[in-house]
Order: sequence, then structure tokens, then C-alpha cells
Amino acid sequence: MIIEQLTEPLPGSLMPTLSGSYYHDPAVFALEQERIFEKSWMCVVHAADLAKPGDFKLVQVGREQLIITRNRRGEARAYFNVCRHRGMQVCTTESGNARRFQCGYHAWTYDLDGKLIAAPNLTKMPDVDKDTYGLQTVAVREWLGYIWVCTAEEPPSFEETVLGDVVDRVGEVENLDHYGVENLKLGRRIAYDVQANWKLIIENFMECYHCATIHPELTNVIPQFADGWAAQTKVNSGGVFGEDVEGFTVDGSAGVTKLPQIAPDQDRTYFAITIRPNVFINMVPDHVIVHRMFPTGPKRTYVECDWLFLPDVVDQGMDIDKSVQLFDLVNQQDFDACEKTQPGMESRLYAEGGSLVPAEHHISEFHDWLIKTISPNAQATA
Ligand code: FES
Ligand SMILES: [Fe+2]
Repeated sequence: MIIEQLTEPLPGSLMPTLSGSYYHDPAVFALEQERIFEKSWMCVVHAADLAKPGDFKLVQVGREQLIITRNRRGEARAYFNVCRHRGMQVCTTESGNARRFQCGYHAWTYDLDGKLIAAPNLTKMPDVDKDTYGLQTVAVREWLGYIWVCTAEEPPSFEETVLGDVVDRVGEVENLDHYGVENLKLGRRIAYDVQANWKLIIENFMECYHCATIHPELTNVIPQFADGWAAQTKVNSGGVFGEDVEGFTVDGSAGVTKLPQIAPDQDRTYFAITIRPNVFINMVPDHVIVHRMFPTGPKRTYVECDWLFLPDVVDQGMDIDKSVQLFDLVNQQDFDACEKTQPGMESRLYAEGGSLVPAEHHISEFHDWLIKTISPNAQATA
């Protein structure tokens, strides 16, 4: 395993990528688990998936399995799914509704606030403090209609990290606020099991040098993407729809009801934000698409993609198929490219890495962040 600073610039227009081992070495992935996914704010569950007190869902964050739930007051809560007695997984059902969580081994029982409320013979052990032996709590935030968690003992500032990425991309959080994402409703969700390292997916999302080659439908809607320059290279720059295009749909036909508060420069335009390490947000005038990535191994990433619309659009059963089809196709095209790139990462030809053209140079900032975050002295500087 090599944790290194990026090497000397390549001659001329090209900049270096990370070397191939970053994309397949289990030791690099282990460092990423420990220092990125277990230390960052991770967007894990759509709030509507946990609508009522007691609704719960298990999620994997880094090496940890977590129970995400709502207590009786409806507040989002997250716990390590590890019994405080002898360590069994307390909850073994993927999702559902619970009044309490009872471990299946010796029946230690925890309430929705994680407190230990019952155990065989507990009354004969008065010295056992029920709070101390409650489920271990994980930091939680609700934002954009999603539940975000951080398993770090001292989570980084949500404002500096998550909102910082938003500000870097669109200038101010207000530019995202216009879309009212927290009030939108899930119209469709598609999951993808991608046989590629998570960083290939992020790097792919950050550039549009590939758009002309693999995204004919997308470049029909946003012709400027055919030039290869992503909308992520400049602050608050978006991809403008083509003249004849009526909406962000697979054939450029009109979409559904527009989001009421978007600014004039957000109409007929596509914006994309990458929030490290696991979220992409795509904003168009009538819907918002949110990707959440869950790396499950050095060469495998589970991606959930949500298409969010105004509640009326979903409730009235308006036709969202053409809207969904466009980005579903883009996803399939992108993930196919990532999967076909993954084997090359292990080739000796890629041992020193590849190159970034000028339209991809901004990806090196992601590489710098990654190296800084997983390098051995990262704990002191993170
Ligand atoms: S391991 Fe959970 S009650 Fe014993
Ligand atoms: Fe793409």
C-alpha cells in the first residue's frame, strides 16, 4: 500500500491520477473505512422511510452496522447494532417497526432511546446503570429530508464539511434551499450494485469529458456537455438545456410541475453537487435526484438513487417515467464505464496511475483530500 502525495505534474496538459492500488487494495479500503466513512457525516436514510416512531432500518457505515430509528417524540436516533451484554446484533431484521429492541441471545431489551429497560434478573443487579448499558448512540442530523449520521466519537462540523461542499459547488446554501428538497416526495428509487471502487464513481460524476461518448440522451438535453466541460468546474455553474428542450426527460419532452421557488438562473438548467464522501445531488427545475453510495468492498459499491418531486406530482400519480428514465440511463452508462475501468486499476500498466485532462483537473482536489484524510497523520490534522 502506498499513501503518498501526488507525484510531479505530468508534462503539458495532463495531471496525474491516484495510482491503481488506491482502487483495489484492501489496505487502502480499510483506511478509508476507518478514516473517511466512520468519521464523516453519511447520508443514510430518507426521512419518509422512517415516518413513524419505532420505524427502523439497518444501515452499514464503514465497518459498523447501525440501527436508524425514531423515538416516541419522532426524533431520528441511531445506534450501533451491538448488544451491550455479549455483543450480539440486537436487531436482525432489515427494516420494520419496533416498540423496543430485544436482543435474541439473553433478552436484554432497549427502548427507542437506546436505554436498557429490561434484562433477565436485572433487578438483582442494582449496580448496573441502565443508561451506561444502553445502546451506543451515534450522532444524527436531519437535513434535506434525509437522516445523516456520523459514527465518530467527535463528529466534524456538519456546517464545515457537508454544507462546506455545497458552498464550494453552488456558492451559497441558499442556492440549494430554493429547491426545497426537504419538502419533496420520493417518486422513484432505483438501487445499483456496482462492481467498482467508490472513488471511480465519484470521479466519473465530477467530470463530463465522457459525456459525448457515453451519454447521448443527456447531451441531447444539455448540448454543452458534449464539449466535455462538467458543470462542476466553476462555482455555481450549471448545464443549460438545449433550445428545443422542454424538460429534463429522456427525450427532452416537458417534465412535471416546476419547483416553485427556484431562481431564474436555475430554470432550464442542471446543477450537480458532490458531498463527500457518499452523496450526489442533481437539481433540475422540476425534480431533484439524490444518490447515496455505500461502499461494500474495495471493488464494490451499492448505490441508491432517489427521484424526488413535489408531493402533488407523486400523490396525483403524474407520469414521471420519462424524467426517471433519463438519469437511470445516465446511471447505467456511468456505472458500466466504472465497472469496465475497475479491472484496469489492477493492471501493471496502471501501477503509477493515469492522467487527467484539463476538463478533469478539478478531480485532483478530490485526490488531495483523500490522501490527506487517510494518510497516517490524518488524525492530527482532520
Ligand atoms: S448478547 Fe444480547 S442479551 Fe446477551
Ligand atoms: Fe456520466
